[in-house]
Amino acid sequence: MQSTDRRIDKLIHLLVKNATVVVPGPKIASEIGVTRFKVWSWIENLRSLGVEIRGVLGEGYQLVTIPDILAPSLLRAELGDHPIGRNIAHYFRTDSTNVVALKLAAEGAEHGTVVVAEEQTAGRGRLGRAWYSEKSSGIYTSIILRPPLSPAAAPVLTLMAGLAAQKAVISATGLAVDIRWPNDLLVNGKKVCGILTEMSAELDRLHAVVLGIGMNVNHSLMPAELEDIATSLRMEAHRGISRVQVLVALLRELERHYQLLLKKGNRAITERWEAASTFAHGKRVRVVTSAGEMLATTTGVDASGALKIQYDDGRQESLVAGEVVEVK
Ligand code: BTN
Repeated sequence: MQSTDRRIDKLIHLLVKNATVVVPGPKIASEIGVTRFKVWSWIENLRSLGVEIRGVLGEGYQLVTIPDILAPSLLRAELGDHPIGRNIAHYFRTDSTNVVALKLAAEGAEHGTVVVAEEQTAGRGRLGRAWYSEKSSGIYTSIILRPPLSPAAAPVLTLMAGLAAQKAVISATGLAVDIRWPNDLLVNGKKVCGILTEMSAELDRLHAVVLGIGMNVNHSLMPAELEDIATSLRMEAHRGISRVQVLVALLRELERHYQLLLKKGNRAITERWEAASTFAHGKRVRVVTSAGEMLATTTGVDASGALKIQYDDGRQESLVAGEVVEVK
């Protein structure tokens, strides 16, 4: 599937820039270098994504509301000149932004490249699960990082991503957001965001890390099979949330936390993570691993990003993979 034609991005930018006026069709066509028919068909596409555009016969087009499309031009206008988000590849629809990002990384895409989609047809979750990716409702994004670190840093990068996502959601919505190890975001006990970290590495060197972040933003309800465990920011905040605003905050927070990790080291991240999550200390959990399920209590996060736990039989362990579920 092709990434969005840069001229569609220009069209969105042009309409947003002139939001208070009716922009003549021929002017749009000549500014972005396509036929008037092409302009009309792209406007129809945008309308099908929920963008409200008024057509005035013989005069042109006018935006009714500023669209909440994750268009590179709208995101770039809010981001400073930092590596994360300098390059943004947008897709109206793709199979999985992680698959696209891994391919771009293998082709040499630079550090900080962001892949974002309005819809995924094969969104991937952790532990082989699928990620529900409803069109235009969520944020489905993958960020390519090229850290000068060893593969052992991957778990801390994962915690860093969760921390950045938590700060972004709090700043954009004001909701109380918890982090379940390693990096699920929970609001009122239900999941609103999941992160799948994938990488290409040699024994001692990371080539690229792909942080795949899926966030339920404006879903007005979740599918029946998910409704007990997942929710959206809109459902919790009881108002529509700007995906553009959340994604901009997320990319800024990722930049900030990534710099913190490189300058101050793992502990700067793991200590902040411990302060940000109720799962760090004294949480009663069911530990789910490939070996089965056991009850335990959490006792902190070590410098590598592993979750320290004490099983009910007294044994202690540092978890590097798997999942924990709160026991109430
Ligand atoms: C989880 O299981 O909690 C992780 C979910 C990660 C989903 C995101 S959506 C964007 C990126 N592309 C994918 O295919 N998966 C990640």
